[in-house]
Amino acid sequence: MQAEKKLAITVFSFPPDKGNVGTAAYLNVFASIFSVLSDLKKDGYNVEGLPETSEALIEEILHDKEAQFSSPNLNVVYKMGVREYQELTPYATALEENWGKPPGNLNSDGENLLVYGKQYGNVFIGVQPTFGYEGDPMRLLFSKSASPHHGFAAYYSFVEKVFKADAVLHFGTHGSLEFMPGKQVGMSDACFPDSLIGNIPNIYYYAANNPSEATIAKRRSYANTISYLTPPAENAGLYKGLKQLGELISSYQSLKDTGRGPQIVSTIISTARQCNLDKDVDLLYSKIMEIESRLLPCGLHVVGEPPSAMEAVATLVNIAALDRPEEGDCLKLVVADNELGSLKQALEGKFVEPGPGGDPIRNPKVLPTGKNIHALDPQSIPTEAAMQSAKVVVERLIERQKIDNGGNYPETVALVLWGTDNIKTYGESLGQVLWMIGVRPIADTFGRVNRVEPVSLEELGRPRIDVVVNCSGVFRDLFINQMNLLDRAVKMVAELDEPVEMNYVRKHALEQAETLGIDIREAATRIFSNASGSYSSNINLAVENSSWNDEKQLQDMYLSRKSFAFDSDAPGAGMMEKKKVFEMALSTADATFQNLDSSEISLTDVSHYFDSDPTNLVQSLRKDKKKPSAYIADTTTANAQVRTLSETVRLDARTKLLNPKWYEGMMSSGYEGVREIEKRLTNTVGWSATSGQVDNWVYEEANTTFIQDEEMMKRLMDMNPNSFRKLVQTFLEANGRGYWETSEDNIEKLRQLYSEVEDKIEGVDR
Ligand code: BEZ
Ligand code: MG
Repeated sequence: MQAEKKLAITVFSFPPDKGNVGTAAYLNVFASIFSVLSDLKKDGYNVEGLPETSEALIEEILHDKEAQFSSPNLNVVYKMGVREYQELTPYATALEENWGKPPGNLNSDGENLLVYGKQYGNVFIGVQPTFGYEGDPMRLLFSKSASPHHGFAAYYSFVEKVFKADAVLHFGTHGSLEFMPGKQVGMSDACFPDSLIGNIPNIYYYAANNPSEATIAKRRSYANTISYLTPPAENAGLYKGLKQLGELISSYQSLKDTGRGPQIVSTIISTARQCNLDKDVDLLYSKIMEIESRLLPCGLHVVGEPPSAMEAVATLVNIAALDRPEEGDCLKLVVADNELGSLKQALEGKFVEPGPGGDPIRNPKVLPTGKNIHALDPQSIPTEAAMQSAKVVVERLIERQKIDNGGNYPETVALVLWGTDNIKTYGESLGQVLWMIGVRPIADTFGRVNRVEPVSLEELGRPRIDVVVNCSGVFRDLFINQMNLLDRAVKMVAELDEPVEMNYVRKHALEQAETLGIDIREAATRIFSNASGSYSSNINLAVENSSWNDEKQLQDMYLSRKSFAFDSDAPGAGMMEKKKVFEMALSTADATFQNLDSSEISLTDVSHYFDSDPTNLVQSLRKDKKKPSAYIADTTTANAQVRTLSETVRLDARTKLLNPKWYEGMMSSGYEGVREIEKRLTNTVGWSATSGQVDNWVYEEANTTFIQDEEMMKRLMDMNPNSFRKLVQTFLEANGRGYWETSEDNIEKLRQLYSEVEDKIEGVDR
């Protein structure tokens, strides 16, 4: 009976700031929940008391409209006494080592553990507690493994044993549960994700373009993922025809009542034909007829609402731009999402159809959304095609570096490997590492890439470039075999009998072996990541929470968290700390590099990019203290580009933060839109902190746009005062930390605004 089923919808608050409740990549979370619950209600689920609008829902979860200003607290749905907590949570004592006796001071009133959220009939909407150490620099620095805090555990004890959920629905990418310490795969009952989720079936709405973290949610918290559509990037001008189509569609919107509608529609149709979308024209026509003025491109996706005409067209034009012969039924797939349908299947305990995750533009099989996301056979990469693309990028990178550096080859490139990007590109960035050091992957008869052989120096036509590879924790989890392959490749190259001026891997490994008194194979340790069960450098958390003193502290975090190496000579040993070799290898880097594969996520969209950037760290480690060049490859289009990091940051600021089309699109999402704007600015400060590659004008123009414009400033403050306060604070911080020079007037105004919004939030003037 649907009416009896109990569902615990769990939203995230990341970073842990009240303005962030209900965060998820590309998703308008509250609007989506509202849409899902309205639909479930029709099916007979008991959602008694559900308010009339999604805005009202937000207000109730965040207490109420007044409380948004006057109370720092979310709505408390349940107070759990310490004794009850201990009875319901058998692993509670295991948390005491890190957090002391319960209740502790997180999600707690000092006596009880507090569960935040609200119940509507048989549906509970709750706010997942945060990691809890975001504001604590010492923990950020040293927590190789920590544990959930008592409030975190209490939340899941409540869901399973007090509320007695039949299923939990984690709403949107991504939460903290599946990143809690424990084994990487194959959880045991001593692993925290396993303890937390207990026996509750876990359903998880997840961004279709994030198969790597979706895989972690599946492996570590037994999630049945349901993909949701990620709106395409709105770099309209970059894609053929899209800009024109977009403009036509918006003009249709404003002019349809003036009698010019039919004319505009016929121009839209012919433009669509020029964009190779003619097979979709009939559907497109009916789609345009449904245009809703509310929906704007670049906005956030709402589950259960098919994409707006603009989103659909943008996706289609992107797909067509890659000249894909096999497509033709595409629009149908874009609009035929099964996001609600799959959820209902899952809630009945039925099968949810699996499908690949990834970029719908590269792989249209990602559509229609609503699939249980899977990645790929981790041993199948890099493919031959990925190797071909990798070679082009590596040669362009080297050429660019020679131009910028008096014709010299880089001796070492420090680079980043991500899981997501290697899944989507079938191993392009993995292939880039292999090509830098001059080896080629060899696949066996089953297509498994488990061997490499050196490319001759004649064929390579240049020296072998040394590398320092920083694998994300996600990459380590997904591609441990490929880490093994890379380590074997580097060690093999170090041992080649070649002149050191043509083999920088050997050159450096010999020097390091000598200095450290170790053998050449150990000195040739280049494949690094976090310790097992640990993710990220945490620089992103420190920046998001302004909980860092100076850049040196951030660099120490990077060194202590990312200096774990994989050693193919020590099978089964896992990740071992090799900080000295890591530092020495980084100190030889002339360039830092990351491959950007995604057409939707750019440098300031998420905090993970600067989190993995070692540019300033390398500078501090180099003997000559010279700043390394920093490059970003953009392989999102057929013609891969290698740009400097500062060029890419500028481009990103112009297309996102400072682009009226982008920020107005965001603001049409209201509350969550303000946060998106604030996030871009915070991430920009992150880039200043890790690389120093942000121009002053970026901050200056942002200040002009969001603060000096009185009307804009008021809109932001009213829509989401908490995020607005963070925005103001971030401007002040950018100035205080020396990343933004501006007039004293500007700073004074920011200070005033800060206390004004503070008073407003604290309710002083009420
Ligand atoms: C990855 O796919 O490797 C990744 C995902 C999120 C953050 C950082 C890395
Ligand atoms: Mg990571």
